[in-house]
Amino acid sequence: MVGDTVKRILFYASGACYLTFRKVVKMRRFILGMLFVIILSGCSGIGLAAPTSTDIPDSTTSSRPTFTPDPAQNLTSACFGSSLPTFTDYATWTKVNPRPIQGHSVYVNIYVNDLARDTYISASGKKFPTCATIVKAHLAGANSTEVTALTVMVKMPAGYDPENNDWWWAMYDSTGKLAESSGKLLACSSCHQPAANSDFVFSEKVMEESKP
Ligand code: HEC
Repeated sequence: MVGDTVKRILFYASGACYLTFRKVVKMRRFILGMLFVIILSGCSGIGLAAPTSTDIPDSTTSSRPTFTPDPAQNLTSACFGSSLPTFTDYATWTKVNPRPIQGHSVYVNIYVNDLARDTYISASGKKFPTCATIVKAHLAGANSTEVTALTVMVKMPAGYDPENNDWWWAMYDSTGKLAESSGKLLACSSCHQPAANSDFVFSEKVMEESKP
C-alpha cells in the first residue's frame, strides 16, 4: 500500500517534472521566438523607415544633385594666381588725375595699370580688358599725400560675375597688403550701376573733374 502510494507519488512527480521540463523548453522556445520576431520586426522596421530611392536619389540616378564648383572661384586665378593679390606698387602706375579730385566721399587719386590705361583715359565707355586694374587711393585730405585706404577693381575673365560686368571689387588697407573685403561685392557694384554703360567705371566723370 505504502509502496503503491510512493510509486504513485513518484509517477505524478515525474509527470509533473516532465511537464515542467516541457514547459521550460516551450517557454525558452517561446522567448527565443519572440526575440527573433522582435529583432526581425526591428530590422524590417528600420528597413521601412529608411528612405526609399524616391526620397534620396542614389548614386545611380541622374537626379542626384551634383556638386558643381563655382566657376568664379577659378576665374580669379587668371589675374591673381591662387592667393589674394596685394596692391603695393600702384603708385608706379598711371595716375589719371593730375591733382586729387573730390570723390563721392573723400579726396582721391586714381591709378590704372597698363591694361586699363587707354580705356580709362579716353573715357570711351568701352569694356576693359581682362586683368585691367584700377586702384582708388583715399586721401586724408585735399592736399594730403597720406593714403587712408584703397578701393580696387580688377576685370575678371567673362563669366566671373556677368551681371556686373565681371569686376572683382576690393577694399584694402592703406598698405595695399590687407584685404578688408573682396570679391563680387554688391555694395560696390550697386553704387557703380549708374556707370553701367561705361563698364561700371566712372571714367567720364573722373576725367572731366581731372581737367586742369
Ligand atoms: C556711394 C557710391 C559708391 C560706392 C558704395 C562705391 N563706389 Fe566706387 N566710385 C563711385 C564713384 C562716384 C566713383 C568716381 C570717383 C569718385 O567719385 O570717387 C567711384 C570710383 C571708384 C574707382 C575708380 C574707378 C572709377 O569707377 O572711376 C574704384 C576702383 C572704385 N570706385 C572701387 C569701389 C569699390 C571696390 C567699392 C566697394 C568697396 C566702391 N567703389 C564702392 C561710387 C561708389
